[in-house]
Amino acid sequence: MKEPVMPGAVPNPLRDVLDRRLPRIAGPSVLVLFGVTGDLARKKLLPAIYDLANRGLLPPGFGLVGFARRDWAHQDFAQVAHEAVREHARTPFREDVWRQLSEGMRFVPGELHDDDAFDKLADTVRELDADRGTGGNYAFYLSLPPKLFPTVVTQLKRSGLAESEEHAWRRVVIEKPFGHDLKSAQDLNAVVDDVFPPQSVFRIDHYLGKETVQNLMALRFANTLFEPIWNRSYIDHVQITMAEDIGVGGRAGYYDGIGAARDVIQNHLLQLLALVAMEEPLSFTADAIRAEKEKALSAVELPEDLETATARGQYAAGWQGGASVVGYLEEEGIPSDSTTETYAAIKLGVNTRRWAGVPFYLRTGKRLGRRVTEVALVFQRTANRVFSHTATEEQGANSLVIRVQPDEGVTLRFGSKVPGAAMEVRDVSMDFSYGESFTEASPEAYERLILDVLIGDPPLFPRQEEVELSWRILDPIEEHWVKAGRPEQYESGAWGPKSAHELLARDGRQWRRP
Ligand SMILES: NC(=O)c1ccc[n+]([C@@H]2O[C@H](COP(=O)([O-])OP(=O)(O)OC[C@H]3O[C@@H](n4cnc5c(N)ncnc54)[C@H](OP(=O)(O)O)[C@@H]3O)[C@@H](O)[C@H]2O)c1
Repeated sequence: MKEPVMPGAVPNPLRDVLDRRLPRIAGPSVLVLFGVTGDLARKKLLPAIYDLANRGLLPPGFGLVGFARRDWAHQDFAQVAHEAVREHARTPFREDVWRQLSEGMRFVPGELHDDDAFDKLADTVRELDADRGTGGNYAFYLSLPPKLFPTVVTQLKRSGLAESEEHAWRRVVIEKPFGHDLKSAQDLNAVVDDVFPPQSVFRIDHYLGKETVQNLMALRFANTLFEPIWNRSYIDHVQITMAEDIGVGGRAGYYDGIGAARDVIQNHLLQLLALVAMEEPLSFTADAIRAEKEKALSAVELPEDLETATARGQYAAGWQGGASVVGYLEEEGIPSDSTTETYAAIKLGVNTRRWAGVPFYLRTGKRLGRRVTEVALVFQRTANRVFSHTATEEQGANSLVIRVQPDEGVTLRFGSKVPGAAMEVRDVSMDFSYGESFTEASPEAYERLILDVLIGDPPLFPRQEEVELSWRILDPIEEHWVKAGRPEQYESGAWGPKSAHELLARDGRQWRRP
């Protein structure tokens, strides 16, 4: 919802930050969870809903409806949710909180193409309105394989569930991936757009719910220190990394044919790039933030030679965590001739006055050295005029590293004199760690995002324009890779294929070892 603006008022970005310190509590509502038997629901969504209830952020009149192809009664669903909460919730289990939450739980068995099941769903949410005072406010969370999104959205329309009423809202939550290329993203959006107005569509990129990702804006715009050097005059290049140490695991069916770039770069890494590259928004409203991110994404330029500016790989057998592991092509459910990449690296430019000439290197991969996500701004070197070569030979470039996971925080790396009679400079780190500096635990990204959906607060959800801009960046690279043949193999537990190291070496740079 757009905020009213007083005539002549000067926008004040801090105003929204202050507002956000007040407790934000969801109003009466029902969350309908499709795909409730899936991995995401069990590990993340059901525990996050309980944690929200435990923190007092859900209203007493809250309803949770599970929909799946199981012959379950309401109590069976509550039992499954109970187990998921006991296993994965972050806050302690409290019987009184659980009792209140479970009293609002309902289950509707059925197939997605079954009209009767959706009519039953409509009856169920209306009964909750009557029994629990949920007010006709419904959020539909599609935690399903993406090919099923159109079926559900069409059913929601047919059954009248999508139609908002006076004083009652209807929202739909779509899990990534939003399509697998520009065309499919547009097709999906056409289906959703036909049923829900844009302000009722919440596209989840759970990275945006992470505390450190939001801290990128605080770091840049609430401090004097960083913004003056956040540009091409001081920054040599930017590295954005999301590394996983695990393989494809049980996600073979989803992952093969999609690959690392579509799974991670199109959404998480390009969103991080947008937050690093964008200009200061006029306020922290959704429209203002999204407008700046879209400008940054529109300014992204692909290098002319995609062969030398990209790299991709597929993990081979090796050792990880002291265990021997199989290669991607030997994983269960993966065809032995698959050309899907499990590692992708790309070099991009951002053609703005702030960033012209500064390369942004993005990389992601499975079975790499360790699990880490970070954004590193690597600064230009000084002339080091007064130091002898030997005094600074161990000094690297200054860098500012925003650690997104697992150890959330910020590291500043710079040169310092080694104690002793000689003048020798070596790199040291100054660390800020969320865990040490704050007593408040960071909420799980899904907690924050589910609460935002129920409140109707959209800044952390990408809109369709951002999704399309990201596919416009990635599609030419994917097309190039199809022609380029098989990805290069890399050893499990190593930091990616040789071509990825060559990509930076050609520019006289190297990847950071996080
Ligand atoms: N898992 C993650 O960590 C993660 C992270 C980011 C995004 N996502 C996204 O979240 C969504 C769900 O992921 P997931 O990992 O939970 O998937 P999943 O474990 O494969 O679960 C999929 C769910 O969809 C249901 N389903 C599948 N085919 C169906 C059909 N024909 N009719 C009705 N229901 C059907 C399954 O129910 P049945 O039990 O009846 O088969 C199950 O509840 C996907 O869009 C995924 O890309 C997942």
